[in-house]
Amino acid sequence: MKVGIVGAGMVGSAAGFALILKGIATELVLVDRDAARARAEAEDIAHAVPFAAPAVVRAGDFDDLDGAGVVILACGVSQKRGETRLALLERNAAVFREVVGAVMAACPGAILLVATNPVDIMGQVAQALSGLPPGRVIGSGTILDTARFRWLVGRHLGISPGSVHAYVLGEHGDSEVLAWSNARAGSVPLASFAAQVGAPLTAAVRERIDEGVRRAAYTIIAGKGATWHGIGAGLARIVAAIRGDEQAVLSVSTVEPEVLGVGPVALSLPRLVGREGVTATLWPELDDAETGALLASATILRAQVETLRF
Ligand code: LAC
Repeated sequence: MKVGIVGAGMVGSAAGFALILKGIATELVLVDRDAARARAEAEDIAHAVPFAAPAVVRAGDFDDLDGAGVVILACGVSQKRGETRLALLERNAAVFREVVGAVMAACPGAILLVATNPVDIMGQVAQALSGLPPGRVIGSGTILDTARFRWLVGRHLGISPGSVHAYVLGEHGDSEVLAWSNARAGSVPLASFAAQVGAPLTAAVRERIDEGVRRAAYTIIAGKGATWHGIGAGLARIVAAIRGDEQAVLSVSTVEPEVLGVGPVALSLPRLVGREGVTATLWPELDDAETGALLASATILRAQVETLRF
C-alpha cells in the first residue's frame, strides 16, 4: 500500500519508520514544507528498508501523494511542556485549512488519518474541509491511550498487554475516560482476574494507572520534549487494519452525529476499521460514572469545535 505522510516531524517520521519496519507500506512519500527535513527523514527511513520488507521511500510534494491509500496528517505544532492539546487548536486549524485541500486534490480516494493535536477536533476539521464521509477521516484518537492503559494494567497483573481488553474513550486528552467497568483480562472481568492473581485493583492502584495514562504525554514531554514512538506505532496499527481490511476493533476518533445528545462531535469509541475506513461504532456498556465522564468529554470537545469557523 502507498502511504503519504504530511508532516515529517517526530510523529510523522516515527509513523513512517513503523510502517516500513513492519512491512505495512510498500511505498512511502513524506511531504513537509521544510523540504530538506522531508528528504532527510525519507533517506533515514529508507536505510531501514534492507532490514525490513521491500519498499520505496521518498520525499515529495502534494502531487506525489497521488495513488496513496492512506494519507497521514501529522503537520502542525505540538504540545510544549505543560501545554494542553486543546491549546494547539487555532494554530493547527489554520495549517489544515491549507493542507487538506492540497491532499484532496492529489488523492481524493485516500483515507485521511489524522494525528495532529487536538486530534479529535482536527479530525472533525479535516472531515469538514475534505467533504469525505466521516468513516474515511480517522483520528488516531485514544488508540495510544488504550495502549498505555493495557500496558499499565498488564504490568500490574503480570500479563501481556495483548491479553488486556480495555479501552480509553472520549477525548484524546485530559477528559478521556478509562472504561474500567467492562475491562477484561482474557475472558475474565478485570477485578476478578486481579483478585485471582493476588494483585487487587484497589482505589490506589486504579488512581495510579489512571494518572499514568492521563498524564503520560505530559511526563514524556517534560523528559524529552515530545512523544513519537507510541503514536507512530499506533498510526501504523491503524494503517495495517485498513490495508488488511481487518475489521479490527480499535479505539479511534471519527465524527458522530451525536454522542449522548451532544454533537456533531469526534471522539474515540471502539470502532471497526478496515479497507473502507471506519465502518461501525460499537457502543460500549458503561457504568453511570463512565457515562457521565464521556458526556463531559463530548461536551468539552463540542464547545471547542463551536469556536471554529470552517
Ligand atoms: C501523546 C500525543 C500523541 O499522547 O498526544 O503522546
